[in-house]
Amino acid sequence: MSIAPLTPILTATWDAPRSWKLDTYRSANGYAGATRALRMPAAQVIDEVKASGLRGRGGAGFPTGTKWSFVPAAPGQPKYLVVNCDESEPGTCKDMPLLMASPHLVVEGAIIAGYAIGAHRVFIYIRGEVVHVLRRVQQAVAEAYQAGLLGPRTMGVEYPLDITVHAGAGAYICGEETALLDSLEGRRGQPRSRPPFPAVAGLYGQPTVVNNCETIASLPAILARGAAWYAQFGTEQSKGATIYSLSGHVRFPGQFEAPFGTTARTLLELAGGIREGHKLKFFTPGGSSTPLFTEEQLDVPLSYEAVADAGSMLGTKALQFFDETTSVLRTTRRWMEFYAAESCGKCTPCREGSWWLRQLVARLEEGRGKEGDVERILDICGNVSGKTFCPLADGFVAMVTSAVRQFRSEFEAGYRRPASELFPYERSAVFKSATSAVASRTTRGGEAR
Ligand SMILES: Cc1cc2nc3c(=O)[nH]c(=O)nc-3n(C[C@H](O)[C@H](O)[C@H](O)COP(=O)(O)O)c2cc1C
Ligand code: SF4
Repeated sequence: MSIAPLTPILTATWDAPRSWKLDTYRSANGYAGATRALRMPAAQVIDEVKASGLRGRGGAGFPTGTKWSFVPAAPGQPKYLVVNCDESEPGTCKDMPLLMASPHLVVEGAIIAGYAIGAHRVFIYIRGEVVHVLRRVQQAVAEAYQAGLLGPRTMGVEYPLDITVHAGAGAYICGEETALLDSLEGRRGQPRSRPPFPAVAGLYGQPTVVNNCETIASLPAILARGAAWYAQFGTEQSKGATIYSLSGHVRFPGQFEAPFGTTARTLLELAGGIREGHKLKFFTPGGSSTPLFTEEQLDVPLSYEAVADAGSMLGTKALQFFDETTSVLRTTRRWMEFYAAESCGKCTPCREGSWWLRQLVARLEEGRGKEGDVERILDICGNVSGKTFCPLADGFVAMVTSAVRQFRSEFEAGYRRPASELFPYERSAVFKSATSAVASRTTRGGEAR
């Protein structure tokens, strides 16, 4: 049951002076959860997390305690915890602010999770471009070592735990957990074949849990305040609170922490609504890999189950709002450019399909579409969906097909007129400087054969 629109748990200290410092974190009850966890048997920590109903925040919503219980209880065998801070999905922007404002939440959560699964080494994998975030986390880990929270005796308890902060090289696919493991091992990041799953044979062939940054950051409050307290928030199948990222044509974009089950309408109101004088056209409920919603779905509770019932996915809870000035062909093209560039190329339907989709959508956007292009797009989507190694391809297929389904007439208009005539860039641009950049890029568009 949701009890308040805003529920600051992860974001509770974000506006405190020097919120990232250990002293600030400790003065807000920081490390109380790990203190409690380290004095419980590891199996009991897993049970507590199961009882809290915590589900992974990396996109799929898999129950965290259940995932941990797949790790074999083999004393002496090396096990690893990897905290996934790659965050690259367009629109998704919660993990980086979380790490900047409150890195000790992740360090404390890593202690709890590492201890629960029996790992003595944790890797925090951060995308390499965000150097400021990397430095902030490195400093927090160094502070934790200096304070004796990490090392041979974790927080004074006979349990060695070390944390390594690792910078990725900036590839979207390295957020996919098995590609991330290859990247950590120093190889080109490409998804691995499963089984075996990482819980059995992951990093260096050893049992490994990969959890999202926000998942790990949710643990301290659960352990400090108890599973029952946490489970009071949210819905029956999506318990707790989470960070929703609102961006696009809203008055006050940003991060809003609220219980699962909060509606997009409520969040939109908290963000000041759609910019003045405009109205909502469509939005993504969970990042660019999720089917689009329109005004009709504003009252769908944002829980994993309700969003799926309504035909989309909660994904990373990245709500990107677009008003009536936006060309859906333009957004689809931009997203397809991203996916075509980020496809790792391992499987043909994704590598070729993303390229063809990008070309077809580009020529429609430029008003150079050929009769039948819309059917061609749907045909390619049908040949990609469910035929690839990892869900990257299913993500762009879901986005493209939902765009065509809901705005087919706009796609068909691309046989005759460029989107820039129907939806001039300067009307939809949020930042003036973005307008000219988009316009110049569009004139260089590629050609489909
Ligand atoms: C293409 C692709 C990119 C992904 N990127 C991320 C990412 O940046 N961060 C993340 O936590 N999970 C990402 N995931 C999901 C991970 O594979 C994995 O499910 C997640 O890290 C598990 O953590 P959780 O159980 O805490 O959700 C991605 C998946 C795919 C297919
Ligand atoms: S679906 Fe795309 S990103 Fe995923 S393994 Fe295949 S080619 Fe690589």
